[in-house]
Amino acid sequence: MNILALETSCDETSAAVLKHGKVASNIISSQLAHQAFGGVVPEIASREHERLVVSVAAAALSEANIRKSELDFIAATSGPGLIGAVLVGLNFAQSLAFALKKPFVPVNHIEAHIFSTFVDDGTHEPARIPAFPFVSLTVSGGHTMLALVQDDLTYRVVGRTIDDAAGEAFDKTGKMLGLGYPAGPLMDKLAKQGNAKFHRFPQALLSEDNFNFSFSGLKTSVQTFLRDKPEPFVQAHLADICASIQDAITSVLVTKTLAAAKCFKVNTVSVAGGVSANSELRRKFQVACAAKNLALHIPRPIFSTDNAAMIATLAHLKLQRGLASPNDYNVGAFAVFTPPS
Ligand code: KG4
Ligand code: ZN
Repeated sequence: MNILALETSCDETSAAVLKHGKVASNIISSQLAHQAFGGVVPEIASREHERLVVSVAAAALSEANIRKSELDFIAATSGPGLIGAVLVGLNFAQSLAFALKKPFVPVNHIEAHIFSTFVDDGTHEPARIPAFPFVSLTVSGGHTMLALVQDDLTYRVVGRTIDDAAGEAFDKTGKMLGLGYPAGPLMDKLAKQGNAKFHRFPQALLSEDNFNFSFSGLKTSVQTFLRDKPEPFVQAHLADICASIQDAITSVLVTKTLAAAKCFKVNTVSVAGGVSANSELRRKFQVACAAKNLALHIPRPIFSTDNAAMIATLAHLKLQRGLASPNDYNVGAFAVFTPPS
């Protein structure tokens, strides 16, 4: 089964080819045009996808050494995301499917993150994939969600952020420190030289009896902390401040995820989404899961942030199980993401 998948939900134009479940190519073009604006500008994202989509898809086919006629399915992110951006990849993929007379498979972006720990790029033989049921933490720029995932690929959302996403917390506090966009990876790098105990920022909802998250208080707390600090002090302690913010965000993510694993009596934890590329989050999860004898699955960083290989992988998992609805054009970009309760 050969699948070409497109991902254009935010500021990454990506195309991937999966041959019999294995990644044969995964081309990602990250749009740099947004950096000057300190965040993603939706219209620029759409226009950049339009400019790049054909060449990125052609590169994915060429690197996978496959002809269009050899494709069996075309998949694309159908939402959620910046709607203009989603529509570029979705329309391109649907038109290609139409022209090639191949079935089209729409894929939910957040579900693709959840199952990104199933992406098989040949690193492990046989592929190392999570055992069902597992607790999944999805942490991206727009979502922070804990889900209990079953082997029929259904999942129950057991916790979520009640305000900001973890990635947003990295990006917004990083912006207050004068870091560029996206600040998450920059904070990760700076924090390596810093002291995480320099300042204790709040870890919200830890004592609450649920698996929800909140990061808006952290944002306010960083703002308050910085208000009376002279610029030379901030610059002298930039790495320490980054390490302290990163510690607050990552500690709460690990604590709540492990509490969920205990509550639902599962032996496997999966962590995905852009923030799962964070080195301190990965380290903390490795230590905590080893201590509790839990199997831990985190994708390689290239499959943590937005990529089309995860879109193709979920399409493949669903097709294998007869769960995909090829040509169901109603599950389009206007479908609002409403996770099952
Ligand atoms: O999954 P993703 O690529 O896009 C969305 O679906 O949102 O996630 C992007 C988010 C951004 O907030 C970015 O700052 C964050 O992931 N991120 C990181 C790291 N790499 C990406 N945050 C902390 N540390 C990182 N190394
Ligand atoms: Zn994403």
